[in-house]
Amino acid sequence: MRTNQPQTICLSDYKVPAYLVDQVDLRFELFEDGARVHSVLSVRRNPESSAGDEPLYLHGDSLVLESVALNGTPLAAGDFDDLGDALVVSSVPEAFELQVVTWIEPQNNTRLEGLYKSSGMFCTQCEAEGFRCITFYPDRPDVMARFRTRIEADRDAYPVLLSNGNPVAKGDLEGGRHYVTWEDPFPKPAYLFALVAGDLVEKKDTFTTCSGRSIDLRMYVEPRNAQKCDFALDALKRSMRWDEDVYGREYDLDIFMIVAVDDFNMGAMENKGLNIFNSSCVLASQETATDAAFQRIEAIVAHEYFHNWSGNRVTCRDWFQLSLKEGFTVFRDAQFSADMGSPTVKRIEDATLLRTAQFAEDAGPMAHPVRPASYMEISNFYTLTIYEKGAEVVRMIHNLLGESLFRQGSDLYFQRHDGQAVTTDDFVRAMEDASGRDLSQFRLWYEQAGTPALTVTDEFDEERCVYRLTVSQSVPDTPGQTGKKPQHIPFAVGLLGRDGQPLPLLFSAGSDDAPVDRVLELTEREHCFEFHGVSERPVPSLLRGFSAPVRVHYPWTREQLLFLMSHDPDGFNRWDAGQRLAVDVIQSLIVAPEAEVEPRLVDAYRSLLRNTGLDQALVAKMLQLPSEAYLIELSEQADVAAIHRAREAVLSHLATHLRDELLACYHRNSAQGDYQLTPESVARRSLRNTALGWLLHIGDQQGLVLAQEQLRSADNMTDRLGALRALVNSDFVEERTQALEGFYQAFREDPQVVELWFSVQAASVRAGQLPQITQLLEHEAFDWKNPNKVRSVIGAFASQNLAAFHNPDGSGYAFLATQVCRLDDSNPQIASRLVTPLTRWRKFAPEYRVLMKSALERVRDKDRLSGDVYEVVHKSLA
Ligand code: PHE
Ligand code: ZN
Repeated sequence: MRTNQPQTICLSDYKVPAYLVDQVDLRFELFEDGARVHSVLSVRRNPESSAGDEPLYLHGDSLVLESVALNGTPLAAGDFDDLGDALVVSSVPEAFELQVVTWIEPQNNTRLEGLYKSSGMFCTQCEAEGFRCITFYPDRPDVMARFRTRIEADRDAYPVLLSNGNPVAKGDLEGGRHYVTWEDPFPKPAYLFALVAGDLVEKKDTFTTCSGRSIDLRMYVEPRNAQKCDFALDALKRSMRWDEDVYGREYDLDIFMIVAVDDFNMGAMENKGLNIFNSSCVLASQETATDAAFQRIEAIVAHEYFHNWSGNRVTCRDWFQLSLKEGFTVFRDAQFSADMGSPTVKRIEDATLLRTAQFAEDAGPMAHPVRPASYMEISNFYTLTIYEKGAEVVRMIHNLLGESLFRQGSDLYFQRHDGQAVTTDDFVRAMEDASGRDLSQFRLWYEQAGTPALTVTDEFDEERCVYRLTVSQSVPDTPGQTGKKPQHIPFAVGLLGRDGQPLPLLFSAGSDDAPVDRVLELTEREHCFEFHGVSERPVPSLLRGFSAPVRVHYPWTREQLLFLMSHDPDGFNRWDAGQRLAVDVIQSLIVAPEAEVEPRLVDAYRSLLRNTGLDQALVAKMLQLPSEAYLIELSEQADVAAIHRAREAVLSHLATHLRDELLACYHRNSAQGDYQLTPESVARRSLRNTALGWLLHIGDQQGLVLAQEQLRSADNMTDRLGALRALVNSDFVEERTQALEGFYQAFREDPQVVELWFSVQAASVRAGQLPQITQLLEHEAFDWKNPNKVRSVIGAFASQNLAAFHNPDGSGYAFLATQVCRLDDSNPQIASRLVTPLTRWRKFAPEYRVLMKSALERVRDKDRLSGDVYEVVHKSLA
């Protein structure tokens, strides 16, 4: 069990390992009442370590030690110490073999770290520090070894036995048991180890690599999911081809396997040759998965596959370098998704996540740099900052270097560090060496936490025809970090003339190099840029394509925003202008609830709804009003009730005034032909479902009929769920109850659809008030041991149903505190993630703040609090 006060671990204390492991031989005996793990480690002293004859230190967690022997001789009690969380062997030779036998209980493992059982199958999760729950081991990523794994289990119950690498032996054993032995030729850290044993069906495919090697692709799922594998297998093949084409990366083993498990703390895991996925991130069929789910699956399959190079072949030296693999791999999967679908839409989605959730994290009590300097519990650092901001940092390098130099840098990085465990600094150095650029100031992106803010002002000198942009930057203080230095920020801009034409950007009069797009490089606290030959006051288009993860403040007029919304050639900024306008209109209603809704907003949305010439995928995005979460993020002392009321008022106003356009848009986008996943068809469904949602929001009778009909006749989950969601978010109480009941009866056997069904209700202010949430927890399909169910009810309530969660009576907060305490005993990682909304208490108006804080204090005072929740709660109360 965890101790009460976790230790702080510091990057500055890093030391190379005193011992290295060359080879690991594992033998697993799997039984119903536990598992015996026999491990043989070939260990030698690290020639690079200055630690003289330090004892051998092996991590362990929740292990029963059965025996330990050195070079075949059992160790006497005085020769080693079993400290509970470590096994220490005091005097060891230069090189030796250590034999350890441990006993573990996967069937009782509710933390889902190490070896555990999920719907009857054995599976593992070892990142970051789960391997130590299997056997004693130097569980740190800079110890890389070759693994050979023999799995023994009952043949009937567990016909499929998998581990990393290639199968090298198999056979029968006494008592109806059998075994399979796997060998992974690539040295790897223990966090990439995996094992699966179960009664699974196998889906096969093949892929021929660029050098002509044929790779066996296999997916293993429970028999009931056999029909939900095709999409992931196709996505895998697309990813493999893409990584060859774009990064020159070929797959290295002869076999690549994907397994789907129902109980999983995260989305998926890149174990060498044996990726393990949360079912909800890999299984899909037209009938059960939404468009968003398909896109997420494609991205995650790609992400895990891309880790084979960015993560596995080149891995992290220590966990402070987590973004080395995650930031780079998220950037790679974002490039891939952009290539597979609509680049502008992908960019909008990523920027939305970043601005809504990562900016909030970066301004909150857990703010940390992309390369943190310290942590208590590493599982708390699988954050939006490490992943998404980390990816933005790589993207900025890409934009500064350009496509071709970036590719040379990545080639150099993979070649130079293949088989090594390295740092983010090594990554940046490879980029520098390949490009000749100096990225020393740029490195601050890895070291300084907090979202830089840019303040932009402009002046137009009519006589000289000079337009001047002044840009100043500041990086806010974050816990433990003050007085920050200015960062190196690529700031993409353009200027538009009165007629909507892009103006040439001339840095000096008479120069003939005149691009209409420029990336200004900000390195100082303040810069002034002069553009010559400008004959009229232009409208600036700033931070095009979201060229850096920063906030931009510029005194936009509504006029300018409307202008950019319809003229900016940069699709991202068109969308952004619409968002800024909607935010501005909503915010003015927060201050003055009785005020009139800006009529030009209605006109703008009208022309969007009618605009069939513009990319419909972009239109679909532009029609989404900024979320409550984003509006909260933008405010100083958020009054959630006022924000909710204002946003709903704008929505009602728009829907009421645009009813005819909404109906027309609905019909224009009604399904034609077979279900397809092209950006055009996805956009069509999105537009149609948005229109439906708006109509039901205002209680439109015709909308009701359309929704019910759509629910009945839909041939895909996007349309079915779109109709259900519209009904759930309406005031047609009886109809929505009926719809929910019918939907549940139709899909009760499918856990992923039931999760959608839970979250549609939990995220709805109409159907997801606290008493209804409490009922969902009592529902037959709810399961406390299954993280997806917990997330789909409690997570959806606390992070999407903001008006209900922030009920001014504090009941939502008290509820969350209770559930966090309950989950802390069974699954601390899930508890720790779930508590996040409460940690943002400083962001809210005083009446909310007090109640949030006292709910947090209740969690703090819980008995035997896990290290995971301890860190988050203490840091956020500090
Ligand atoms: N490394 C996984 C990924 O990003 C995420 C993960 C972390 C999964 C920790 C499980 C545990 O692909
Ligand atoms: Zn990853």
